[in-house]
Amino acid sequence: MPNIVVVGTQWGDEGKGKVVDVITPHVDVVVRYQGGNNAGHTVVVGREKYVLQSIPSGILHRRRCVVGCGVVVNPGALIEEMEALVRRGVVLDGNLFISKNAHLIMPYHPALDRASEAKLGSRRIGTTGRGVGPAYVDKAARVGIRVGDLLNERLFREKLEMNVAQKNRLLREIYDAPTFSVAEILDQYLRYAGWLAPYVTDTGLLLTRWIESGFSVLFEGAQGTMLDIDHGTYPFITSSSTTAGGAATGTGVPPTRIHGVLGVAKAYTTRVGGGPFPAEMSGKIAEHVQARGNEYGSVTGRPRRCGWFDAMVLRYAVRINGLDTVALTKLDVLDQCAAIKICTAYRYQGGILTDFPEDETVVAEAEPVYEEIEGWLATTSGAKNEVDLPAKARRYVERLEELIGVPFCLISTGAQRDETILCETSPLLRWFPSVRSSVL
Ligand code: IMP
Repeated sequence: MPNIVVVGTQWGDEGKGKVVDVITPHVDVVVRYQGGNNAGHTVVVGREKYVLQSIPSGILHRRRCVVGCGVVVNPGALIEEMEALVRRGVVLDGNLFISKNAHLIMPYHPALDRASEAKLGSRRIGTTGRGVGPAYVDKAARVGIRVGDLLNERLFREKLEMNVAQKNRLLREIYDAPTFSVAEILDQYLRYAGWLAPYVTDTGLLLTRWIESGFSVLFEGAQGTMLDIDHGTYPFITSSSTTAGGAATGTGVPPTRIHGVLGVAKAYTTRVGGGPFPAEMSGKIAEHVQARGNEYGSVTGRPRRCGWFDAMVLRYAVRINGLDTVALTKLDVLDQCAAIKICTAYRYQGGILTDFPEDETVVAEAEPVYEEIEGWLATTSGAKNEVDLPAKARRYVERLEELIGVPFCLISTGAQRDETILCETSPLLRWFPSVRSSVL
């Protein structure tokens, strides 16, 4: 049974939730491997809309869902998410498993996140303010507190006392911000421990056993390639390994047990927060795409910056993730554009770049080289096959495929599951022959 990674190819918000939702009925297990409650996956099932932050959307299909060791867990937010699912009749017991080794987001992490952003001034990252970066800082500095520590009161208290002393000094002396009390956090987190204990386990071992017994695993990436801590547009990134490699380190499943990688890309590009964005749109067209695509963050509600499809970014995502195929989302958002641009290369200091540059100053100063095509000015929603698309929309899709060099597997033309075209020759059908039933 194939084990497949689904990964964002741009700056996040590519519509991974819908793609994962289409594939999930055909796998046994869905696992999150990085990020925290900075992510927001919106899934529409029938008339119901769910926004999931830390729990894989597979939970809505009664699949076994794992929060892997690479995730940072805000226990209060996670419990709220769990309670909201239970209220809507979703069964968690026997379906949700949380890694003992996942690190905890503590109350001082969001405080440090906000204080650090305020100090950065014009170089601020534009984080979600959820404390994700500072939680990973503690993990790397080897002072982090893990989910498993919650189950050992003596150890938890010891680690908490050490951390609160250190963070309070930082907050008071560097940031001039309010400090925290050990007793209050202890009381609150020990209550969380009671709630979470039944779900906490050695998920690496569990996943390996399930794979050995023939289960199929879907690795659900959060954010996107360009926000990866190593491969993204550093320092305007998130603090985790969002790319396919993170699926192994963030779960304990070895790379040799992963069989394929599916990338998700919007038919245009968006970015939330600061940082370079070469193919960014401006003026009326930016407003049109933002409104039509409802480009507002599902976690923070912030408006997303909009840009044209950037083939430089996509080719980079193909290389870094080893993508076998790409699901193209939100094609319908471009239905009313009279002209559509595709960024094919960057111009920099008089030369042309055809590979995405690693140097942050080059990305910041690069100018997009555009190819312009006529818009199709017709609806794409409802098309069940590529041949049903308006001819100019088909040409747009084919041109993107040609520029990025890997085949599309799905083309999404709306939020509903049945507003999806399944591309006949895609690897997705080879991995999951029954996936056809999910998009009918
Ligand atoms: P952080 O992850 O909150 O530290 O934010 C770091 C950067 O990643 C900021 O530019 C955020 O806007 C961006 N980011 C974090 N999570 C998401 C997401 O789920 N979608 C899009 N951007 C995100």
